[in-house]
Amino acid sequence: MSRYVVEPLAGHDRATFSSGSESLDRHFYQQVTQDVRRRIASCFVAVSDDGELAGFYTLAATSLAFDRLSAERASRLPRYPVVPGILLGRLAVAKAHQGRRLGGALVADALLRSARTEIVGHILVVDAIDDAAARFYQHLGFEPLADDRHRLIRPI
Ligand SMILES: CC(C)(COP(=O)(O)OP(=O)(O)OC[C@H]1O[C@@H](n2cnc3c(N)ncnc32)[C@H](O)[C@@H]1OP(=O)(O)O)[C@@H](O)C(=O)NCCC(=O)NCCS
Repeated sequence: MSRYVVEPLAGHDRATFSSGSESLDRHFYQQVTQDVRRRIASCFVAVSDDGELAGFYTLAATSLAFDRLSAERASRLPRYPVVPGILLGRLAVAKAHQGRRLGGALVADALLRSARTEIVGHILVVDAIDDAAARFYQHLGFEPLADDRHRLIRPI
């Protein structure tokens, strides 16, 4: 069984990372360090015990219009126009490491970091790239928005 350490992206070698999603891999090679530098998102990576870069995810502040929440969730919140949240914008696990519960562990890590920050968010928001990714998030307890089934939320 592999063990992983999750840490902020720094000088890690991203060139050979391959998740099978071309757009996510391209973003990771070409865009993510600029986003971190410009404070658009933070990025965390999972490194396996043999030093391989096995996964990554990004976090950023976001908000969701109050009227996009389900009636049940809305009933528990003050009626402010928007609900503050944290966006898990991108998440990918390298093909060689998929199916070992790393994706689920990275989502748990993202929830934990979101819960620990001093600037609070009420929900973790995810954007699924396709139906399979949406099913993955639903399996982990996220609920899709009624008007966009590829955007899902979970309380922090
Ligand atoms: C989606 C992805 C992140 C999943 O990572 P992973 O490490 O293979 O998934 P895990 O092994 O942690 O799976 C955790 C749980 O989710 C389930 N699961 C995984 N993929 C699933 C899917 N598409 N639909 C439903 N459940 C799924 C697993 O069976 C597991 O369930 P269990 O813990 O009850 O046994 C990974 O396959 C990936 O990077 N894919 C390409 C990019 C992508 O789709 N990113 C999604 C974010 S937009």
